[in-house]
Amino acid sequence: MKQSDVVKMILAEKWQQYPLHSSATAYAPSNIALCKYWGKRNQELNLPLTSSLSISLREKGAHTQLLINDSQDCIQLNGQVLDNAMPFSQKLLRFVNLFRVRGQPYLTMNIHTNIPIAAGLASSACGFAAIAKALNQLFGWQLSARDLSILARLGSGSASRSLWQGFVEWHAGVREDGMDSFAEDLPTAWPELCVGLVMINHQEKALSSREAMQRTVMTSALYSAWPQKVSTDLSLLKRAIVEKDFLHLGKVTESNALTMHATMLSAWPPITYCLPETLTAMQQVWRMRDEGIAVYFTQDAGPNIKLLFLENDIASIRQNFPTIEIICNKQALNMPATTSSNIIPNPP
Ligand code: PMV
Repeated sequence: MKQSDVVKMILAEKWQQYPLHSSATAYAPSNIALCKYWGKRNQELNLPLTSSLSISLREKGAHTQLLINDSQDCIQLNGQVLDNAMPFSQKLLRFVNLFRVRGQPYLTMNIHTNIPIAAGLASSACGFAAIAKALNQLFGWQLSARDLSILARLGSGSASRSLWQGFVEWHAGVREDGMDSFAEDLPTAWPELCVGLVMINHQEKALSSREAMQRTVMTSALYSAWPQKVSTDLSLLKRAIVEKDFLHLGKVTESNALTMHATMLSAWPPITYCLPETLTAMQQVWRMRDEGIAVYFTQDAGPNIKLLFLENDIASIRQNFPTIEIICNKQALNMPATTSSNIIPNPP
């Protein structure tokens, strides 16, 4: 089954329709997995071997504007026009081309992100989710969030989780066509929960997560333990979220990320996204815990780490990580936000 077959299934009679509008805009937040997606059962459709669970990063994400134009496709990233032959542009054009049929116009795509691209901060997740939402507007498809999640997954697996704020679960599904592999948001809000971004390196990663996860699945002796670990962690995390049990949420999240990185380290050739500063930051977190501060970390396919902590601990977190960017969930419920220059306000 090809990506285009999935698109035809979802769009049905709407496929081949001409865009309804001449422009459209959409926003999607970035998301950080508490229980990771690591390994595909289908490379073409980005179908995962296991389910995963994430938290969205509110206004850290991608704003995308699509405009119809007559001459050629044009991609602008943060105000800069990109060469269409670049790997980033090619990936984007391949995705957009899934929805275009002959005779349809060219597009100008203006993408604004406030997170570094491909540095393990889920830039592709928010990027593809925002494009899928903007295409839905442009063509007037009126697709459900579930269908948009399936379409966004075709661009990048973790993009399936970037259609919502809050906690989101991506169900692995079992079907070959992936129609049961979509994400949905969990009903629980946790306003006191904060995510902190500790930037260690803004640079693009040398090895894509696609390549790294495939190599891990194929060569790591530890990978066979991963599906069971995910299944246990998912139920523990869901219970911790419902019970607002932060210590369990933090412990399971950190252990899940470290296990994922252990599978990579045992792949061949071995993979690590850690820099010396990544390990220093992890040790700093462990030291803080020894001192009684409830803080935990997670790490994706990049050297940067993300901290999880509760609002009450913001001051000590800042003392230990002065450059940290903090995303709080409080305003999501229209509660007064803790004021600080580095706390990012939530979108209206
Ligand atoms: O969606 P991708 O192909 O960028 O892979 C994401 C992989 C991780 O970020 C490491 C884990 C996850 O679940 O987001």
